[in-house]
Amino acid sequence: MYICHTVAEIRKFVREARTRGQTVGFVPTMGYLHEGHLELMRQAKERCDVVVISIFVNPTQFGPQEDFARYPRDLERDVQMAGEVGVDAVFNPSVEEIYPAGYCTYVEVERITERLCGLSRPGHFRGVTTVVAKLFNIVAPDQAFFGQKDAQQVLVIKRMAADLNMDLEVVTVPTVREADGLAMSSRNVYLDAVQRQAALVLSRSLQAAAEAVAAGQRDVSTIRQLVVDMIKAEPLAEIDYVEIYSHPDLEPVVTLNGPALLALAVKIGRTRLIDNIILGVR
Ligand code: PAJ
Repeated sequence: MYICHTVAEIRKFVREARTRGQTVGFVPTMGYLHEGHLELMRQAKERCDVVVISIFVNPTQFGPQEDFARYPRDLERDVQMAGEVGVDAVFNPSVEEIYPAGYCTYVEVERITERLCGLSRPGHFRGVTTVVAKLFNIVAPDQAFFGQKDAQQVLVIKRMAADLNMDLEVVTVPTVREADGLAMSSRNVYLDAVQRQAALVLSRSLQAAAEAVAAGQRDVSTIRQLVVDMIKAEPLAEIDYVEIYSHPDLEPVVTLNGPALLALAVKIGRTRLIDNIILGVR
């Protein structure tokens, strides 16, 4: 597996693959890989000849009070895991390589960033779209893979790619969960054993909402309240938001009459966790 740290090196790697007529799949990550990330890489490997991943903890998407400095990092372990699923190249740039002195260009998607995580993390999506646009320009993949775990993120990336005529396909991969339902996340390592148990309230409440919809419930505020009540019953959990929007447009809905995204962000101790489910209505 090829490991490099500069834009020039990864460009050369991709150019050579293209010269051989190979297609390129790309999985951007912030590292500290888990099964969720690996599933994206497996899907990429299945659909593309060559798979490139990036490992870059992107400072511009973290707020001043957020966990940029303590975000978990372990390059050696990541490289080992990526190799095992057949990744061909790892691009691991420094902050200076991506944001050199004098850097002052940002990409901003409007409207669909003005709710959910966009409200509780001001500037977050501006950082995400900026770094992903840069990575797309650097790697120039045929297909890029994102997880449904970050439901709003993948919608924002799709919007950006369409609006800016980016010549690639954005593929969404379903959320990978632990056996007990907890959505996999690099941030799960922050949880101690008691918090880890409390964190199950996220997936359990989403499941309860899906069951209510399956049983015929269509009233959005009733479904939302059911989720809020379940989370409030967990003493270690503090709600950031619980919201239901139409999917994929993220417009407000009162009565379910098509696919809707139930998304939530909940703090367990200092750790902010997100999860979501698409509520389907036939
Ligand atoms: P990161 O949190 O490392 O996630 C990288 C990719 O893995 C994202 O597309 C995310 O949705 C996906 N992912 C994470 N957990 C998952 C799970 N349990 N199941 C399926 N997919 C999962 O998201 C980011 O990094 C950054 O914002 C990034 C896009 C790299 C830009 O900096």
